[in-house]
Amino acid sequence: MTAEPLEHALDRRGYLREPDPFPDPRPLVLRTAQESDLPELRRLDEAVFQEVAYPAFLFRQLYEMYAEHLLVLDDGEGRLHGYVLAGTTALSRESWVLGLCVAEERRRHGLGRELMVAVLARLRDSGIEQVRLTVEPANRAAVLLYRSLGFCPEQPGAGLRRDYFGPGQDRLIMHLALTGSH
Ligand SMILES: CC(C)(COP(=O)(O)OP(=O)(O)OC[C@H]1O[C@@H](n2cnc3c(N)ncnc32)[C@H](O)[C@@H]1OP(=O)(O)O)[C@@H](O)C(=O)NCCC(=O)NCCS
Repeated sequence: MTAEPLEHALDRRGYLREPDPFPDPRPLVLRTAQESDLPELRRLDEAVFQEVAYPAFLFRQLYEMYAEHLLVLDDGEGRLHGYVLAGTTALSRESWVLGLCVAEERRRHGLGRELMVAVLARLRDSGIEQVRLTVEPANRAAVLLYRSLGFCPEQPGAGLRRDYFGPGQDRLIMHLALTGSH
């Protein structure tokens, strides 16, 4: 396995959201993150994940290690509206999705799926064969998204790992074999 799966926890916020009736009209470009994106990535991460956002030093180090699989949605005016990050290890051909988010006002317009499909394609092109992630069991939006992409709960225990991130921090572990899929 690769690095510790660091998927964020979202304990006290609602997960399900209806599409914004007045969506931001600016088109978004999906691209690989650059070093100059780090402050804006931190802003977005904090806006979505608040007290469980990655600390600045960790985001910097994740960037240094995994920039190839850190994708962002850029509106071309200096603002990022989503990101996905996967950590990989060449030796075992495995990867963990370490972060995924879409800005609240941009949700339910296919952007989360777009980020995931793009990073999975890149992982496959990099020779990765197995992708894992953790998700809070109550995070229905994310679980449904991952299931629709072919992720399945990893046995044993239907994927549920009690106290995975500490007391009371249960997580589902989900898994996707990339070979021959998508
Ligand atoms: C999870 C998240 C990234 C989804 O992003 P999104 O852009 O809103 O998702 P999409 O519009 O691409 O939806 C893709 C699929 O996800 C599921 N989904 C997303 N939001 C949903 C909701 N509110 N209710 C039910 N299903 C939902 C659906 O299966 C949807 O497919 P469909 O549109 O064909 O029904 C977004 O809700 C988010 O950033 N949440 C907060 C951070 C988070 O929880 N990250 C994941 C941590 S593991």
